[in-house]
Amino acid sequence: MAKPKRRHICQACGSVATRWQGQCADCGEWNTLAEEAPATVFSIKHDLSSGGRPIAFEALDAPGQVLQRRSTGLAEFDRALGGGLVPGSAVLMGGDPGIGKSTLLLQAAARIAQGGGSAVYISGEEAAGQVRLRADRLGLAGAPIALAAATSVRDILTTLSGMAPPALLVIDSIQTMHSDQIEGAPGTVSQVRASAFELIRYAKENGVALVLVGHVTKDGSIAGPRVLEHMVDVVMSFEGERSHQYRILRSIKNRFGPVDEIGVFAMEGAGLAEVGNPSLLFLSGRDQPVAGSAVFPAIEGTRPVLVEIQALIVRLASGATPRRAVVGWDSGRLAMLLAVLEARCGLNFSTAEVYLNVAGGYRLADPAADLAVAAALVSALADKPLGADAVWFGEVSLAGEIRNVAHAGVRLREAAKLGFRNAYGPGDVTAKSDEARLYGLTMLPNLVDRIM
Ligand code: TYD
Ligand code: MG
Repeated sequence: MAKPKRRHICQACGSVATRWQGQCADCGEWNTLAEEAPATVFSIKHDLSSGGRPIAFEALDAPGQVLQRRSTGLAEFDRALGGGLVPGSAVLMGGDPGIGKSTLLLQAAARIAQGGGSAVYISGEEAAGQVRLRADRLGLAGAPIALAAATSVRDILTTLSGMAPPALLVIDSIQTMHSDQIEGAPGTVSQVRASAFELIRYAKENGVALVLVGHVTKDGSIAGPRVLEHMVDVVMSFEGERSHQYRILRSIKNRFGPVDEIGVFAMEGAGLAEVGNPSLLFLSGRDQPVAGSAVFPAIEGTRPVLVEIQALIVRLASGATPRRAVVGWDSGRLAMLLAVLEARCGLNFSTAEVYLNVAGGYRLADPAADLAVAAALVSALADKPLGADAVWFGEVSLAGEIRNVAHAGVRLREAAKLGFRNAYGPGDVTAKSDEARLYGLTMLPNLVDRIM
């Protein structure tokens, strides 16, 4: 048998190196490689004459269990989950520190407990007293949640096996858990993986809905190995700017439902309040139109959300390298759009600093935002406000064409419902629907002509 090789595993991305290095060759993080016990290597070739048992094949339409879902008691949380928690499943909840993960899960646990289900909340980060204080602030002190501060997976599972399995088990957070099945400090890749594995197995065997809170690294991915994302059934991310009130719960992976639905919450004095109709949230509500601001009708799952995009352009006198800063949108996409505006419309941004901001701490992922961003940029460059009653949507190609996007009808209807009279979108027609007039634009220069 070959001598097992020493393995060094990056604690940030989980990639394996055979030698120790200061910097991970895969993710570029420094000082993240740690040596791990070598895996036992068995002979590759199986001896099939003994030991294996036949597996049974099943037909796809064989009668099985209907997927049962349990409501979290928070409609927005249920919506993001695709209808509620599935017993025997594992959810990984990621998000920046202080965004409200613990608050959200404490509220969901309380709702489930108040609704007659049992909920266990294990905190590895805060003392039980701190969690109790938070529950007090949330007005949930009376909820019959089983609360404990613990970090040993063995202790947790021993305790749980001595009681009826709860409907919901919250582990806050998986990075603080420690399994004695394996060596290493809590938070290392192998510990996170082993702890998650044991907890998920318990959840699957006992029909418990398990929620693991996961820390997020600087670049926004869930800390620990990517394998954690593969091990769980649902990966969710709780997003927002901490300085803003609004929070968005998104599912990134969901084995039981769609991944494009979002839940919207507002962080208030008494915890997270659900926002059932978010379409007006991300508008600044200004009376006077200002240059550089454009409203974009985004689609999140099945819901339209109107978002204000703000651009600011500052001309530089000297030859210093101008800055480009983006909040809430992709910076690569901004660079592309600026290049297209320069190449196809003859506009000059090369000596100007460009700042782009999506209002309300919202993160845009919809490609139809291109036209609204372009409109904001052109308006800022020309220092001319866009009509306050207009929305803009469409994808922009490198050739400067304005491409069709999905759900144009929904976008138009929502804009009209909220009092926007005019819409600029892809196409070559001017159409009057119920209230909003749609102006079709086919090429980016059409847009520039409209604004300048
Ligand atoms: P928390 O749930 O602890 O965040 P996470 O677990 O994601 O780190 O939320 C912390 C923030 O939420 C904190 O900065 C204060 C704010 N908050 C409120 O504004 N109102 C509340 O009722 C609560 C409980 C927290
Ligand atoms: Mg927390």
